[in-house]
Amino acid sequence: LQPSIFDFVAGGSGDEQTMASNLRGFDRFKLRPRILRDVSSVDTRIDFFGADLAAPIFVSPMGQQKLIHRSGEKATAQGAGRAGLGFVLSMGASVSLEEVAKAGCNALWLQMYYLRDRQLMADLVARAVQAGFRAICLTADVPVVGFRRRDQRHKQLGNSPADFVFGNFEKYYKERSASTDAYLLSGLHDLAVTWSDLEWLRSQSELPLALKGVMTREDARCAVDSGVQVIVVSNHGGRQIDHASGAIDVLQEVVEAVDGRAKVVLDGGVRRPTDIAIALSLGADAVMVGRPVLWALALAGADGVAELLKHLTGELGRVLTLMGIARVADLDASNVETVNR
Ligand SMILES: Cc1cc2nc3c(=O)[nH]c(=O)nc-3n(C[C@H](O)[C@H](O)[C@H](O)COP(=O)(O)O)c2cc1C
Repeated sequence: LQPSIFDFVAGGSGDEQTMASNLRGFDRFKLRPRILRDVSSVDTRIDFFGADLAAPIFVSPMGQQKLIHRSGEKATAQGAGRAGLGFVLSMGASVSLEEVAKAGCNALWLQMYYLRDRQLMADLVARAVQAGFRAICLTADVPVVGFRRRDQRHKQLGNSPADFVFGNFEKYYKERSASTDAYLLSGLHDLAVTWSDLEWLRSQSELPLALKGVMTREDARCAVDSGVQVIVVSNHGGRQIDHASGAIDVLQEVVEAVDGRAKVVLDGGVRRPTDIAIALSLGADAVMVGRPVLWALALAGADGVAELLKHLTGELGRVLTLMGIARVADLDASNVETVNR
């Protein structure tokens, strides 16, 4: 990868403290393995809104994947599909959702930002429904983009601005004969949105609504009260507000506040099968994995993504076996302890 693109993926905001906390946060927890509990048949599978997943793992939404591999999001979706896992397509993807829907992944979600142009949003939701997507995931932690030093230093991403392709918007560029750049610069995001706006988004389809960017018990309660069905505990991989807690650090308070009224997904810093076991023990229903998938994509396209995700799934099975746990859903608070080191 060119250094500018490597840094675009690897980097976070500010002094990258939140990004570091996402990884370090897992060190506060230790697993409590049990023995002699019949692990002759261990199963990592789960059902998530009617999708049968090989493990409770989704690929996080990450935009502009053609910067990383020529097939972009299509290859990532193929890899996730081959591993039997879920894939969240970014609204800012370089491949259109219709193309990605042909990639053979059975659990696709569309991630969206709240746009000022509601007609555009409604159209995207309708297209997602039409293409067989299973959920809409609203990312709410980007009213503005975080201050990312690495990106500032490089000034320009890719060889030219034309390297940026917005597959989901191509149709509208043509209709409105506007350029990609104009779209980017036109202040697409609506900064005035509040909780009451979620109702409009929910009313656009029957699909479940996931909300990504929840980091507090207060917002978890607001989300549940607003009818959100999946809470994604996330700080955007440490790319937005710096000096916030690691995602895993706030998982417990969110799980407590949600109190079973919605599913909870942990996103940020998940690198090892034991990280997944910790998150599930603390009450998450699933996890999302971000940057590692892009490294695998850079290395070997769809094959790389499939290999990484199959490895993670297989190793999660090994961890469960070593923990004395037959099904992922059996992991609970007794399987983890907090340490002060
Ligand atoms: C290159 C890159 C692009 C991203 N683009 C988006 C995006 O378009 N929408 C979104 O909701 N999150 C986006 N994210 C954040 C990820 O969805 C996710 O929250 C984060 O990467 C998880 O942390 P991890 O990389 O430590 O696993 C992006 C992250 C990266 C690294």
